[in-house]
Amino acid sequence: MYRVAVMASGSGSNLQAILDRLHHQVAGVEVALVVSDVPGALALERAERADIPTAVFPVHPHVTREERDRAIADAITAASADLIVLAGYMRMLTPPLLERFPWRVINLHPALLPAFPGTDGIRDALEYGVKVTGVTVHFVDEGMDTGPIIRQESLTVGEGEGRVSLGERIHALEHRVLPRVVELFATGKVQPPERGSRLVRVDDSEPSRIDW
Ligand code: GAR
Repeated sequence: MYRVAVMASGSGSNLQAILDRLHHQVAGVEVALVVSDVPGALALERAERADIPTAVFPVHPHVTREERDRAIADAITAASADLIVLAGYMRMLTPPLLERFPWRVINLHPALLPAFPGTDGIRDALEYGVKVTGVTVHFVDEGMDTGPIIRQESLTVGEGEGRVSLGERIHALEHRVLPRVVELFATGKVQPPERGSRLVRVDDSEPSRIDW
C-alpha cells in the first residue's frame, strides 16, 4: 500500500478526486488520513463518508504554529503516510513538520507558479489580465508556494471570462492533475532535485492507470 495523508481546509473537491480516482483503485494508493485546520470543513465530511480517519487541528491562541505542526506531524507519522498532499490547505507549514518528511510534502496551487502565489491565485491571475494560466503541483518548503515544481498544466483564459467560469475550469484541471501526480509518486516516478538544484525529474512515459 502507498499511504497518503491529505490536508485540506475547505470544500475538499480535490480530496474527492483522489478518493474517486485513486483510493483503493490505482497503484496501491490508500488515503490513510485527512487532516484539517477547520472544524466542520466539507473535506472532513467527504473523508468520513469514505471511512477515512480524520484529525482536526484548529488554530489556538495558546498554541504556536510550530507546536500545532508538531502535533500534525505526530498524527501523520502514526498513520504511516508515505506522502502528504496539501489539497486546499491554507496555512504555511513550519520546520517541525517539514523536516520530519523531507521531499514527501506536496501542494496544489491554482496558477502557474512562480506567478500568483498566495491564497487566491485564480483572482490574482484574472486581475492581472493574463491570457494563459493553469495549475501547479510543487514540493512544499517554508516559503509561500516557493518549492520546486513537479508538474504544471495550462489553460487559455477566454475573452471576457469571469471568476466563476475560470474557477470551474481550473478546478476541473486540478482534479486530473493532482491524482496523476499522486499516481506518479506511488509508482516511484518522481525524483526530487539534487542538492543545489530545483529540477524535479518526472518519468511520465507510462500511461496513467487512472480511469477518467
Ligand atoms: C484549490 O483550487 C487549490 O489549488 C487551492 O485551494 C483550492 C481547494 O479546493 N489551493 C491554494 O490556493 C493554495 N495556495 P478544494 O477544497 O475544492 O479541493
